[in-house]
Amino acid sequence: MPRNVSHPDEVIVLKRRFGQGATNIDKYVELDGYKAVQQAIAQGPEWIINTMKASGLRGRGGAGFPTGLKWSFVPKQSEKPKYVLVNGDESEPGTCKDHVLFLEDPHAVIEGTMIAGLAIGAKLGFIYLRGEYRYLLKIMEQAVADAYAKGYLGKNIFGSGLDFDVVTQTGAGAYEVGEESALMESLEGKRGVPRIKPPFPAVVGLYGGPTVINNAETIASVPHILLMGGEAYAKLGTERNGGTRLFGISGHVEKPGVYELPMGYSMRKAIYDVAGGVKGGKKLKAVVPGGSSCPVMTADELDVGLDFDQMAKAGTMLGSGGIVVLDETVSIVEFALRVISFYQHESCGWCIPCREGTDWIKKTLARVYAGGGSKKDIDNVEYLADNMMGRTFCPLGDAAAMPTLGFVRKFRKEFEDYVEGKRAGTPVMNEVELVGAGH
Ligand SMILES: Cc1cc2nc3c(=O)[nH]c(=O)nc-3n(C[C@H](O)[C@H](O)[C@H](O)COP(=O)(O)O)c2cc1C
Repeated sequence: MPRNVSHPDEVIVLKRRFGQGATNIDKYVELDGYKAVQQAIAQGPEWIINTMKASGLRGRGGAGFPTGLKWSFVPKQSEKPKYVLVNGDESEPGTCKDHVLFLEDPHAVIEGTMIAGLAIGAKLGFIYLRGEYRYLLKIMEQAVADAYAKGYLGKNIFGSGLDFDVVTQTGAGAYEVGEESALMESLEGKRGVPRIKPPFPAVVGLYGGPTVINNAETIASVPHILLMGGEAYAKLGTERNGGTRLFGISGHVEKPGVYELPMGYSMRKAIYDVAGGVKGGKKLKAVVPGGSSCPVMTADELDVGLDFDQMAKAGTMLGSGGIVVLDETVSIVEFALRVISFYQHESCGWCIPCREGTDWIKKTLARVYAGGGSKKDIDNVEYLADNMMGRTFCPLGDAAAMPTLGFVRKFRKEFEDYVEGKRAGTPVMNEVELVGAGH
């Protein structure tokens, strides 16, 4: 994806991007780096958590849980060590924002990890990158090594008497390990399947110790928030949705890229003003608003503010900020088939509704797409997806069902055109064609 300019007015988390050389630790320090962690040491855990609460920052991994509140759930006393876990799995189709931080501002991720550690009383943080981000691992590892060489990490950080270590780790290319409990399993060297909750990670997490898990962007936002103040950060966004966030705008737009926009920014403006509108002047057909698991929006539904609450009110989700624009040439039936194929491929197989549901939806949609389906097939797809909702241990089942329901309900006519023989797709698509060679 080309790296386009971020929105010029409200750049916070992307402050050190665009060839400023912040991967170099001296440059990072020159650009106010490692100041926030020193402030955090001076002020102490309560101040950090209160600042985070005041900022209104909500997790950028998809669910939008308030970060300060999450940190406050970690028990102060614990017999087992506590941990910070940075989620850089970034495997949801359409989501491509965290990689920019690893690539251009790795020390912000490290500094944010340290601050989270100070807030909860952890001495060890893990930065977990998706398997396909191996090339970014080198950058992260170099940044960690440089931070140790300067004495910023390790024993007695900044003369505080406190110790903090950071370890990097990569996955093996499974979407499921982005789910926080599967991520912990994977990190512990086991198969990446989710754990039953409760207990939640804040109480029983990695190696059984209290653990804070946050998305990489959430963590990289932390040093900026401490330096500018929680209230000032909150004011950039909307009520209960503080600050700015990254959006990866891709698909049929003139200027695809990763952009930083204030929370609540208009979806329409993001597509037309920021990303240059639909490519080649074509008509916009649909938008996947926040990564492939979010219910699709039609061209008439774009006058909505990009924050967690407004998107939920509009019947969809802000998710992980991956906006995928589809123009009039896209077959929604083919798109729905590709999306469900991804989830079928990535389902860990533990829960029957997810394992069987994704498989049957995929088979049925493949039949519809090839022109051999019936109206009953369309009903069955809806029925299957509806019955997956809320019936799995982790939200991967919902993540597969929600977009399916959106496609079938909002574009039913198009599915009917396929079963009535008015349109027909390619009869056979193999796994690589369906899911993509990267998965
Ligand atoms: C199947 C699945 C995949 C997920 N993938 C990611 C991911 O790649 N990155 C991420 O930060 N969160 C991902 N999540 C959400 C995490 O479980 C968790 O909510 C998040 O890391 C918490 O961080 P936050 O509070 O900063 O958003 C995923 C969830 C599910 C169910």
